[in-house]
Amino acid sequence: MHRRDFIRVLGGGAIFAATGCAPTGADPRAAWVNPGAGETDPRRKALSWAILAPNPHNMQPWIVDLSVPDTITLFIDKTRLLPVTDPFNRQITLGCGAMLELLTMALGAEGQAAEVILFPDGEPQPNLDDRPVFRVRISRAATSPDPLFARILERRTDRNAYTDREVDPSAASNLLGGIRPIPGAISNVTVTPERIARLKALVYQGADVEAHTPAAHHESVERTFIGARDVAAHPWGISLDSPFMTAMNTVGVLTKEKMVEPGTTAFNESLKFLKAGADTSRAFFWITTQTNTRADQIAAGRAYVLANLSAAKFGLAMHPWSQGLQEYATQKPVYDALHRELAPQGGRIQMLARIGYPEAEIPPAPRRGLAAQLKGV
Ligand SMILES: Cc1cc2nc3c(=O)[nH]c(=O)nc-3n(C[C@H](O)[C@H](O)[C@H](O)COP(=O)(O)O)c2cc1C
Repeated sequence: MHRRDFIRVLGGGAIFAATGCAPTGADPRAAWVNPGAGETDPRRKALSWAILAPNPHNMQPWIVDLSVPDTITLFIDKTRLLPVTDPFNRQITLGCGAMLELLTMALGAEGQAAEVILFPDGEPQPNLDDRPVFRVRISRAATSPDPLFARILERRTDRNAYTDREVDPSAASNLLGGIRPIPGAISNVTVTPERIARLKALVYQGADVEAHTPAAHHESVERTFIGARDVAAHPWGISLDSPFMTAMNTVGVLTKEKMVEPGTTAFNESLKFLKAGADTSRAFFWITTQTNTRADQIAAGRAYVLANLSAAKFGLAMHPWSQGLQEYATQKPVYDALHRELAPQGGRIQMLARIGYPEAEIPPAPRRGLAAQLKGV
């Protein structure tokens, strides 16, 4: 196998897009086609858009309760957490913030105003529990639709290497300018070459630390599905289902067993793929909050999805890179270095993402579908 082929295929996108590979069975990407079409309940309609939000490892840990009229209550599915790499459910909470932002946007697009109450029964600490994350009461009211709503279907997490094109200062300010301010979350972009060079090294270091921390690495691999059939059966997690990946899986080169074992082709090529991604970062985006409350995490998640939608609007690709921000012990040196670099005045970096121009269009990530996430259905 040629290394370049493997790298291209690990990204998945180019080949998938070119061939339009259709997995057998249910289409794991069906949720991206006409979200909400045919729904008469405005809550279900808006939720069909909200479940397209970026979320850690695509775990989609959302349980929605619609039992109270005009009300949407979100609970966490505690079987869909990331206990090693996200020990305090900080990132899972960010994903809920992103979901909430798309929910309110989609309600607004239908002329519904949303009254949001975060953690109505109190902020769960140090871990999320059975209490609700948010409650949204809707009412028919004149609202002006957010222009970024139109970008939801274009938004992607693009892990591939980016082109040589630099992200210039005007592109960076367009990106930031597109983000409605979210109180408590401060969004930043750097296009300064020396700083980008330091960040490329640090993000890769975070990935390398994770790969060599067995509990963390295994957690990611366990949530990875390889091949069209496996992804169709598991429309969540990290999906490697391009035709080439499927073939590599069939011949036994790319399997979960191989991915966890240092020294195998699967292990080494995964790291090379990440290195190529880090090395082609043309800018970095990050979000800080002054404190690290659950409300801060929700705010950061809202700001992140806005940035990701703004990037889509301006033709920029975006890829969160979270390992070095995670709380487990072996990441501490990277965590500290990132905070020295990006938050020298204090505060918590909640999100860090590389930015560049995409090589090719990539398909959306699978979704479980709304029906799988409704309570008591
Ligand atoms: C809080 C948070 C952290 C994330 N961290 C990473 C990361 O470290 N690496 C990565 O490749 N993707 C990361 N992602 C992106 C998710 O993996 C992605 O949103 C998910 O797989 C669904 O794909 P989509 O964004 O294309 O819909 C993160 C997303 C969120 C919200």
